[in-house]
Amino acid sequence: MSDPATLWHAEHANLARLLDILEKEMAAFNAGEQPNYDLLLDVVHYLQHYPDQVHHPKEDVAFARLVKRDPRMKPQIDRLTQEHRVIGIAGGVLLKHLEEVLAGTVEPRSVVEAAAATYLAYYRGHLAAEDREVVPRAAELLTAADWAAVAKAVPARPDPLLGEHVESHYRKLRRHIELESQSD
Ligand SMILES: [Fe+2]
Ligand SMILES: [Fe+2]
Repeated sequence: MSDPATLWHAEHANLARLLDILEKEMAAFNAGEQPNYDLLLDVVHYLQHYPDQVHHPKEDVAFARLVKRDPRMKPQIDRLTQEHRVIGIAGGVLLKHLEEVLAGTVEPRSVVEAAAATYLAYYRGHLAAEDREVVPRAAELLTAADWAAVAKAVPARPDPLLGEHVESHYRKLRRHIELESQSD
């Protein structure tokens, strides 16, 4: 069993992979081509319905524990905690734009493009800051009791996309991820 910091980092790698899929499909949209809307919507839907509700609340508990152990980290932790709220809202805005495009509503292409580009840049910056500044410090400073509190931050819930049992809604996306990882 890997240690919690290694698992934390691995979750970021999974998130980064989903952001890459989002970027690739949006590149087709931005070029005036037909993206794979199923993939696009499933990625954003998943990010809103699992990481936003499980990964981020767990981090919020880890962050609070970390500030107790090292109060000097408070400004950067406050910033990252705020980013969780912004990521949630930005994901909701992007999902709404994509659903409207799919429903045939006339949406300026540039508005949808900007919503996706902003979300991607913001989310990637967030993951990089956590991997660089927070995960290594947490590995040093958090105790077994801290990690237990992190694990209990939200009720245990299987990952509907990357877990053992893939929800039917996410089967296409899971297959896409598996095929892409084979071609790496
Ligand atoms: Fe985070
Ligand atoms: Fe994170």
